[in-house]
Amino acid sequence: MKKLVFLTGAGMSAESGISTFRDSGGLWEQYPVQQVASIEGYWANPELVIQFYNDRRKQLLDVKPCEGHRLVAEMESAYDVTVITQNVDNLHEVAGSSKVIHLHGELMKATSTKNPNDPNCIVTLSPPNLDIKMGQKAKDGSQLRPFIVWFGESVPMIEPAIEEVQKADILVVIGTSLNVYPAAGLLAYANSHCKIYLIDPAEVKFDPSLGITHIKKGASAGMEELKGLLC
Ligand code: OAD
Repeated sequence: MKKLVFLTGAGMSAESGISTFRDSGGLWEQYPVQQVASIEGYWANPELVIQFYNDRRKQLLDVKPCEGHRLVAEMESAYDVTVITQNVDNLHEVAGSSKVIHLHGELMKATSTKNPNDPNCIVTLSPPNLDIKMGQKAKDGSQLRPFIVWFGESVPMIEPAIEEVQKADILVVIGTSLNVYPAAGLLAYANSHCKIYLIDPAEVKFDPSLGITHIKKGASAGMEELKGLLC
């Protein structure tokens, strides 16, 4: 079976109704990124940051995967598929993808403030206990915080992601502006025989030497077109 790797970003979930970050009207226009998505922002005002992610988590209960998520999952019938996502939502999993690497954490999980990557401290949140509260403790006794990789923090899942990209026969990048590293640097690990596709309705800056085929459509229509190109 050929190895098919997806690298997805906020545009993957846009058709499900979740805002992207950098498009006009995107999340970083409404909330200062340094305040709600950096480790310094968390230390400056943990209550505000915890509330911001509590609100995002509640919104996630009302959204469903789009056709694009479903088509990504469907590729498992013909390929050995790994999804590497920068998204903190769980829509790939809900759509049926079985191997998903979350580079930037997971909204439905919480962890320790002291040791955020300690697997013993990571817990899954579910209704009716979706909110993280001030004073709520992780297993190591520190304040429970969202399991999100903030700016200024290490990205431990980048190593397994690199290994997957190195093995890819086909790499499909969907809905990311490729602004944030180390995620954006993953394309450089594709081997010389790997065919790279990009699905995004807008222009995205990438290294022209990578020979990328740009399908200039949204995630769902773009995945339909890709299916036709791959068979
Ligand atoms: P961005 O908001 O930077 O980029 C979203 C991309 O999706 C853009 O290139 C859009 O053109 C594209 N797009 C919009 N609608 C689309 C659609 N229907 N189908 C396909 N593509 C569409 O989001 P990311 O690149 O994911 O990190 O941002 C990367 C990281 O920056 C995020 O994971 C987040 C953010 O700060 C953290 O919070 C740590």
